[in-house]
Amino acid sequence: MSASIEQILEETRHFLPSPEFSAKARVSSMEQYREMYEESINSPETFWAREASDLSWQQPWDSVLEWNVPNAEWFKGAKVNISENCLDRHLTNGRKDKVAIHWEGECGEKIALTYADLHREVCKFANVLTAQGVKAGDPVLLYLPMVPEAVISMLACARIGALHSVVFGGFSVDAIVDRLEDCGAKYVITADGGFRRGKAISLKDNVDAALERYPDVKCSFIVQRTESEVTMVEGRDVWWHELMADASAEHTPEGFDSEHPLFILYTSGSTGKPKGVLHTTGGYMIGTYTTCKYIFDMRDDDVYWCTADVGWITGHSYICYGPLLNGVTQVMYEGAPNYPDFGRFWKMVEDYKVSIFYTAPTAIRAFIKAGDDLPNAHDLSSLRLLGTVGEPINPEAWMWYHKVIGGERCPIVDTWWQTETGAIMISPLPGATPTMPGTATLPFFGVDAAILDEEGNECPPNAGGKLVVRKPWPSMLRGIYKNPERFQTAYWDDYPGIYTVGDGARKDDEGNTWIVGRLDDVLNVSGHRLGTAEIESALVAHDNIAEAAVVGKPHEIKGEAVVAFVVLKSPVNDEEYTHTLRKHVATLIGALARPDDLYIVTALPKTRSGKIMRRLLKELVSTGDITGNITTLEDPTVVEELKALVQV
Ligand code: WTA
Repeated sequence: MSASIEQILEETRHFLPSPEFSAKARVSSMEQYREMYEESINSPETFWAREASDLSWQQPWDSVLEWNVPNAEWFKGAKVNISENCLDRHLTNGRKDKVAIHWEGECGEKIALTYADLHREVCKFANVLTAQGVKAGDPVLLYLPMVPEAVISMLACARIGALHSVVFGGFSVDAIVDRLEDCGAKYVITADGGFRRGKAISLKDNVDAALERYPDVKCSFIVQRTESEVTMVEGRDVWWHELMADASAEHTPEGFDSEHPLFILYTSGSTGKPKGVLHTTGGYMIGTYTTCKYIFDMRDDDVYWCTADVGWITGHSYICYGPLLNGVTQVMYEGAPNYPDFGRFWKMVEDYKVSIFYTAPTAIRAFIKAGDDLPNAHDLSSLRLLGTVGEPINPEAWMWYHKVIGGERCPIVDTWWQTETGAIMISPLPGATPTMPGTATLPFFGVDAAILDEEGNECPPNAGGKLVVRKPWPSMLRGIYKNPERFQTAYWDDYPGIYTVGDGARKDDEGNTWIVGRLDDVLNVSGHRLGTAEIESALVAHDNIAEAAVVGKPHEIKGEAVVAFVVLKSPVNDEEYTHTLRKHVATLIGALARPDDLYIVTALPKTRSGKIMRRLLKELVSTGDITGNITTLEDPTVVEELKALVQV
């Protein structure tokens, strides 16, 4: 049997949850799922009010949903504090002395924080923030390694109504400056550094360089992690541990409006400037709470581990908020998955007896490459449920995850969602949904997902179209920070009243959604969103680059890799020059965006109206050839030059 036929067979093979798993699950059959789903779509008010009553509200809502396209208000009139729900609630429900976070540093040090410990630290830091002048509504920029202080900072901001805006620790100085300028933050929380593959990586140096260009920051809180030498700027920089030493652990959580802003998280779109996605409190809380409750089916005896970084939405919703709202014990790890080797995760699964494990397809592909001996050397029998997120998972990776990590025993939840959606939108329910390698399967409660053609008609089964969401859902973004116009054009202009996701997809005969990939100029590199326009503008910011075009090419581990084509202002006779230019992108955005390949060309393929034909470049880097229609090219001779240059 040829490999391709086998693959097709595997893709149509269904994996049913075991009867034992289903028996214990909150949703244990497809009938139950359908019934609940129907209620969530037809009577969203009833459905969400019931879910919301699991949590604490300081004042009840007047209405569950007010919907004026594109503005949703959930639980309007209610007063709520999300940090109280993540922490204080568990002090009186029997979870006080339960471990909330088992933190492990890359070098192996361990810290266990109970719910009482975490509550105390958050209360103290909330008092510290207030004492330094941080007020409700103020944006605070976080640039931190994966240390408990990251979660403590987020919850402390939320507790006092300040908005956190976390910037991934791998982003560069320019990325910090851009985000500071856009959100106007006057407070920063960072660390001296963090550990990555055994090395201390400085973070404060980047913040210092950023603050030279953005002098509006009044106070920068510095966590001591690596104990490397840093320069403290008098009157601006303060040590976390010094302020915390004297801080009171008493703090009463104020109730904020349900629609009070909770955080801003920047993400790539189709223009050069990242979008400040805004989430608010009550709806986001219910979205992250219920998805953990039903999709991860979190239980009091679970040990849950999500391997994401808090710098991304997955770290917000499925490290910081969702798991703590559910009162679960979780593992948080500081470092790289391959430190000291690719067995690190499996050793930790064994050590902490992890039962729910949530990671990204790109990591799974890297583990496959590293070989089965590493996972096989560890006892993974504590695992009962596996999850993936970030990009479509290829069937080979799914099958490996299922067999080698899950022991053919654990359901896999392939969870589709976005920074904008706040919480998981399409995913199997592990005790109910038959799964298939490569599909995120069916919509979560309240999610009215559809696939539309250009005219707005629903596509028939198996026809590709644009993925949209037709009804508001609790954890949806409430806007682009201070930019309502961009909110409208980025998501609501394609079809009236309907949210356009930006992904292409199709539904099969059973209604399973298969995500094909982004339709806009957004790349998915190792499960991280990068805008081609963002990388292009970094390139043209270089003194000697006149023009640039960036496309993605398939990559075995990363899913997609960045490829850049540049036209120089003046020729440079240096073999290392492409290396210099690639490095320039890493300096401006972060190592994640560094092009794998960079080609210096005399001209880019353009239409007569001057539009760069990225489609041709994409075909070229994927297949080594250009077969597409080139009649609209202004200068067809560039094609020959490009073909000669690019070898696949
Ligand atoms: C892609 C990450 C297929 C998709 C949570 C989406 C996926 C973008 C999946 C959002 C999945 C995420 N299957 N594709 N299970 N999960 N994506 O904002 O293209 O970093 O639009 O949020 O990742 O990326 P973001």
